[in-house]
Amino acid sequence: MNEHQPAPENPEGDEPIKQRKNGLYPAVSDELAENMKSGWADTELHDLRPIAQAAETARRRAELSARFPGERLVIPAGNLKTRSNDTEYSFRASTEYVYLTGDQTQDGVLVLEPTGAEGKSAHEAKLYLLPRSNRENGEFWLDGMGELWVGRRHSLSEAEQLFGMPCEDVRELADALREATGPVRGVRGHDAGIEAALTDKVTAERDEELRVFISEQRLVKDAFEVGELQKAVDSTVRGFEDVVKVLDKAEATSERYIEGTFFLRARVEGNDIGYGSICAAGPHATTLHWVRNDGAVRSGELLLLDAGVETHTLYTADITRTLPVNGTYTELQRKIYDAVYEAQEAGIAAVKPGAKYRDFHDAAQRVLAERLVEWGLAEGPVERVLELGLQRRWTLHGTGHMLGLDVHDCAVARTETYVDGVLEPGMVLTVEPGLYFQADDTTVPQEYRGIGVRIEDDILVTEDGNRNLSAGLPRTSADIEAWMAALKG
Ligand code: GLY
Ligand code: MN
Ligand code: MN
Repeated sequence: MNEHQPAPENPEGDEPIKQRKNGLYPAVSDELAENMKSGWADTELHDLRPIAQAAETARRRAELSARFPGERLVIPAGNLKTRSNDTEYSFRASTEYVYLTGDQTQDGVLVLEPTGAEGKSAHEAKLYLLPRSNRENGEFWLDGMGELWVGRRHSLSEAEQLFGMPCEDVRELADALREATGPVRGVRGHDAGIEAALTDKVTAERDEELRVFISEQRLVKDAFEVGELQKAVDSTVRGFEDVVKVLDKAEATSERYIEGTFFLRARVEGNDIGYGSICAAGPHATTLHWVRNDGAVRSGELLLLDAGVETHTLYTADITRTLPVNGTYTELQRKIYDAVYEAQEAGIAAVKPGAKYRDFHDAAQRVLAERLVEWGLAEGPVERVLELGLQRRWTLHGTGHMLGLDVHDCAVARTETYVDGVLEPGMVLTVEPGLYFQADDTTVPQEYRGIGVRIEDDILVTEDGNRNLSAGLPRTSADIEAWMAALKG
């Protein structure tokens, strides 16, 4: 695609855009510029149905409106980031924007305008978007972001039908915000242009309150979100099955074969992977965020696969299985695996409405501490190990986190509503204990070194307990072996 034309000097101005001369082709003649203005069919779409989650996004905006009466609220999707020259990283709209609009396009901004009224009409929600490319001034074919290059966008009136809000041209928003009066808050970190326009009107503290509120709104998932998370999990289950079927090819190449295989499933069934896949064979399993995935896959060792498909609506699964590459655990691998399984069982049993968030972590850590003492790796008694946190040399991380649009969802919720909070029906969290014996850990016998095991499932808190959304994958060592044998045929 080296014919990509340079951006025009003045995409918004009245002057026709003149292509610069440093492209592959010579400058645009007046005749060609005139020719390209016309001869295009009207493709405007009418009678579009609203997006499936339109009622939910409207409710979330109403909650936000009630929390910040009389204040203008600005929630950007974010902009493209350049990788090099005219090549951009793939775009993923901000979680706050997606949650409140259902839209995912770059440069979009949701603004809740205070109306002066009370209650339900205290704000008017408006969506600011890039409109269709201008054909009169040549933007659509000369600008690298023109629709001829990057694909058709929805017109503003099409977007109004889809998202259920009035839509306006985002290119005029920064100036309007600069001139606007009255209290305002914005979500930071996504759109530098919008932030610059607000800079004299906002404070970091008040903006953070907005971000925290949206994070806490997401703690309890609605039925639409649970359905999307189940779709993400179901695709992820199929992705794990794909991986088991190609382990021989991974042995012949590297962990990259596993990464690529899972990615194929994610891109075909969903939007993307929800986070960098951890395809950690052998001792790499003890590196918590092993995403280089460039190592060897060897028979007799374990593969720790931590991966999640992100749906088209951007909800992600987060699942880990630790598999014997050749289909059968060794005696020691099985012993460690079964201890982690037992810890996960204890953790999952502690997930129920009314339980403290910390309970499932404590339950899992207790089991692991007991096993570490029993195996002579940690010096007992167990209470001492837990009190001093000595098991953490080998358990390393927390036992789970909220899951949703972000893999580590609700990350800026306050301590009192999240880690010091209480579980409620509709929350979705991972339960993912692990044991990791580093290859250079001289405090454990040689045979333990280089073994890492994690088991991670996605758990919905229900009215009377919990439901394992990822129960479609086996968890016990025996069931894993039987499942692998069946898949490998
Ligand atoms: N995949 C990252 C995590 O399990 O938290
Ligand atoms: Mn996780
Ligand atoms: Mn994970």
